[in-house]
Amino acid sequence: MADASKVLSISPVIPVVTIDDPQDAVPLARALAAGGVKIIELTLRTESALTSLKLIADEVPDILVGAGTILTPGQAADAVSAGAQFLVSPGVTPALLTQMLTFDVPVLPGVATVGEVMTVLESGLDTMKFFPAGPAGGPNYLAAIGAPIPHVQFCPTGGISLATAPDYLKLPNVSCVGGSWLTPAAAVKSGDWNRITELAREAAGLNASV
Ligand code: 3PG
Repeated sequence: MADASKVLSISPVIPVVTIDDPQDAVPLARALAAGGVKIIELTLRTESALTSLKLIADEVPDILVGAGTILTPGQAADAVSAGAQFLVSPGVTPALLTQMLTFDVPVLPGVATVGEVMTVLESGLDTMKFFPAGPAGGPNYLAAIGAPIPHVQFCPTGGISLATAPDYLKLPNVSCVGGSWLTPAAAVKSGDWNRITELAREAAGLNASV
């Protein structure tokens, strides 16, 4: 089983990115890398997401590109075929978990409850996405999970900003956070790659305690 802790240690923030036009994929990835963020969770929320993923995997070798928003076993297989270097799901089902674990890439399954954390632990994984972090209870909730289950590392995502990220990053069970704020839709649409590099630089400067 591939080690997902390396994925969590690349950057204090994993950008959660949605790309409509594959022509934006490579410049967007390069803009993030120029700001010091060498990882992307590319969501499978658009028709052309797999095309964008493949372009980044082929043309931006200094970025680790993973597929996010994986909802079905079929999507996991398609993402790996397109070059996904890690897999992220917003939640888990037994079938999805089993399928994701058949590939030789790190997997970050999404969890929001203690029972889901325990289910994923039973599959042998101790790194998970905590989603949706803000609405599900925020840093206090994660700190509380850390009392009975201190050995799981989380990447909380959902409702986090540059301002609130430090509240999560100071927790001993948080290695990094995820968020879409590094790639605002307006900046992507207008090709404002400098803005994205600036946002990446700010995010890369955050301190992760783990
Ligand atoms: C995700 O899939 O992780 C979220 O949609 C990202 O949440 P955010 O847009 O609130 O950062």
